[in-house]
Amino acid sequence: MGRIHVLPEHVANKIAAGEVVERPASVVKELLENSLDAGATHIRIQVEAGGKKVIQITDDGCGMSRDDALLAFERHATSKIRNAEDLLTVATLGFRGEALPSIAAVSRLRLETRAAEEAAGTILEINGGKILRVEEAGLPNGTSITVRDLFFNTPARKKFLKAESTELSHIASLVTHYALAHPDKHFELHSATSSVLVAPAVGDRGQRIYQVFGKEVLDRLIPVAALQPLERIGLPQPPPWRRAEEKEKDDAEDSVEQREKSFGELRVHGFVSKPEIQKLNRNSIYVFVNGRLVRDRLIQHALIEAYRNIIPPTVFPVVLLFLEMPSGEVDVNVHPSKTEVRFRQQTAVHDSVRDSVRAVLMKARPVPQFTKQIDAHPTASPSLTPGTRAATVDIAAWRALYAPAVPPGFALQPPVVPPATERLHFGNETISVEANAAVALALIPEPPIPADGCASAIPIEPEPPADLPPSLGSLKPLGQVRESFILAVNHEGLWIIDQHVAHERVLFERVLKQRTMRKVESQRLLMPPIVELTPAQQAVFAEISDELAANGFEVEPFGARSVAVKISPAGIEGLQIESMLHELLDQITREEQALNVDKLRFRIAASIACHAAIKVNMPLEQNKMEWLIAELAKTECPMSCPHGRPVVLHYSLRDIQKAFKRI
Ligand SMILES: Nc1ncnc2c1ncn2[C@@H]1O[C@H](COP(=O)(O)OP(=O)(O)OP(=O)(O)O)[C@@H](O)[C@H]1O
Ligand SMILES: [Mg+2]
Repeated sequence: MGRIHVLPEHVANKIAAGEVVERPASVVKELLENSLDAGATHIRIQVEAGGKKVIQITDDGCGMSRDDALLAFERHATSKIRNAEDLLTVATLGFRGEALPSIAAVSRLRLETRAAEEAAGTILEINGGKILRVEEAGLPNGTSITVRDLFFNTPARKKFLKAESTELSHIASLVTHYALAHPDKHFELHSATSSVLVAPAVGDRGQRIYQVFGKEVLDRLIPVAALQPLERIGLPQPPPWRRAEEKEKDDAEDSVEQREKSFGELRVHGFVSKPEIQKLNRNSIYVFVNGRLVRDRLIQHALIEAYRNIIPPTVFPVVLLFLEMPSGEVDVNVHPSKTEVRFRQQTAVHDSVRDSVRAVLMKARPVPQFTKQIDAHPTASPSLTPGTRAATVDIAAWRALYAPAVPPGFALQPPVVPPATERLHFGNETISVEANAAVALALIPEPPIPADGCASAIPIEPEPPADLPPSLGSLKPLGQVRESFILAVNHEGLWIIDQHVAHERVLFERVLKQRTMRKVESQRLLMPPIVELTPAQQAVFAEISDELAANGFEVEPFGARSVAVKISPAGIEGLQIESMLHELLDQITREEQALNVDKLRFRIAASIACHAAIKVNMPLEQNKMEWLIAELAKTECPMSCPHGRPVVLHYSLRDIQKAFKRI
C-alpha cells in the first residue's frame, strides 16, 4: 500500500488556519475586511477577554443568501474572483476564499446574515469546522459573525496567545488603522468593560485623526498629497498569453494622451510625523495600498530615505500613508495573510513615495518645541501623544498603539516601554517631566491668573499657523549658553541654537551644492598628514577614492598601509583629517547594503561638515552668531543636522506667556 494520502478537509482547514489565523487580531482583520468588501458603512466590533473568548462583528453590508452562507465556509469559496486572470486585477481585500473556513476550523462560530433582497435571514452554527445548525430567522439586513473560544481545539496554538490586554491592544490598533483608512464609515470597538473606539463617519482623514487621537496628534503630523502619472517605462512584459492582446489594444489607441491615460496614476497621500517624533522601531509606520494594510519593505525603505538626514538613522517616524494605483499595478497574491504586496513598477512607486514625503518635510521645516523636544527623545518616547479624547478612545489601548514593538506580521502591539523621566532645571527648582507630551503639557495646566494690575502687558498675538516655516531670518542673537548654544529672539519667542550642528547643516548643504557643481573648496596642506589605514579601511578607500577626490581631497599612497593627504576640503586640518577619514571608512565598512552614489555623497558631505564645523565650547562674537543664523536660515532644512539631531529649539511666545500664567 502506498504511503501518501490526501488529508481530510477538516485537517486541511486547520493547517490553513495556522497561516491565516495567528491571533484574535487576525480574526478581526479577516472579518473586518469581509465587511468592507461587502460594502458596509457601519461596523461594530465587540470583544471579550482580548478576543480570546468572544469576537463579534456586525455590519450593514450586502449580507448573504442561505446558499451563499453555507458555501462561504467551503475552502476556496469566494464571490470576489472567478478565474486566474482576475487575480491580476483584484480590487477587493479578500480573494482567496480561505478566511471563513479557516476561522471556523479553530473556533465555535455563529453566523447571522440576511441579504437585502431576501425575505428571511440565515443562522448558521459551526463548531471546530463541523456544521451544527442551519436555520431560517427574521434578521436585519447585513451580517453578524460571532467567534467564540478561539483555538479551543488547537491547545498548542492557544498557548502562544498573550495577555488579554496585549491581544486587545493588537485589535485596537488594527481597528483604529482601518478606521483611519475609511473615514467615511462608522466604526465601533467595544470590550466587555469599555468603549475602545467610537468613530462615526466624517468628511476626511484629517477629521478622522482629530476624532480618534485629538488635536495634539494632528498638529504633529504633516499632510502628504501627491499624484504621479504612471508610465509604461519600466513595466515588465505582460505574460506571454496576454502579449498579442495587449499589442492589439495599444495599436487601437491612437493618441499619446489616450495611451498615458490608460496606465493610470499613482496617488500618494496621508500623514507623516514632524522630525520631533522619533520612534524606536517601525511599528508606527502604517501603509495602505489600495485600501489594504500591508507591511512593505520597499515603502519602508522609501520612507527612511525621505527622512534621511532629518532624523537620526536609528529612529523611525510615525507614518499613515495611503497609496492608490490601478489594481493591475500591484500583485496582492504574495502572502498567506495578504499582508504583503508586490508592485509592478517598484522603482516608480519607491521614488514617488520618497520624493513626495521628502518634499513636504522640507517645506514644513518644523522646529522642535522646547517641551516637546523632551518627550521626543528616542529613548523616551513611548507613544504618539495621547490626546484628551477619553470619551471616545480608551487611553490605555491607543497609548499602546504607538508603543514600540516588533511582533511579526500584524502583531501590531509591543511591550510598552515605561515612560522615562527627564529633568528640566529652572534656577533652583527642578521640574520633573514624564516623557509623554500630555504630561509635558501638564506643566502648565492651571487656568491663567485673573487680570490684575500687573497682568498681560504683552499683547497676546495669535499663534502663527503650524504649517508655516519658522522665520529664522529675523532672529537676533543675545549671547551664548556655556559658549555652545546661541540664545536668540524674534517675535515668535525664544530660540536656542546648537552652534555646532547649525554650522554642520550649513556646511553640509554647501558641500553638496559645490560637489554637484564640481567646485568643492579645498586647501593645500603645508605638512601633508600621514593617515594609516587598516586592510578593511584600505579596501573601502580604494572604492571611494574618486568620490573623495571630487570632494576636495588629494591623496597619495605613502608606504604599504598609509596615505598622505596633500589637499583637503576647506576647514579640515591636521588631526581632523585623520579622524574624519577613519570615521567615514569605518562607517561605510559597517554599512549592510552597498552604498549608492547619492548615499556616498551624503556621507562624505556630512562627514566634512561635521569635522569642519565650529565646535561647542567656543566663544562667538556677535557678528559670527549673526552670520551663522543668517546662513542657517538660508538652508533647505534648518531644523536638523545631517545626522538627524535637532539644530534649533523653540520656546514660543505663547509657551512663555502660559508659563508666566499670562494666558
Ligand atoms: N460580512 C460579509 N458580508 C457579506 N458577505 C460575506 C461577508 N463575509 C464573507 N462573505 C462572503 O463569504 C465569502 C467567503 O469569505 P472569505 O473571507 O472566506 O473569503 P474571501 O473574502 O472571498 O477571501 P479571503 O480568504 O482572501 O478573505 C466571501 O467571498 C463573501 O462573498
Ligand atoms: Mg475574506
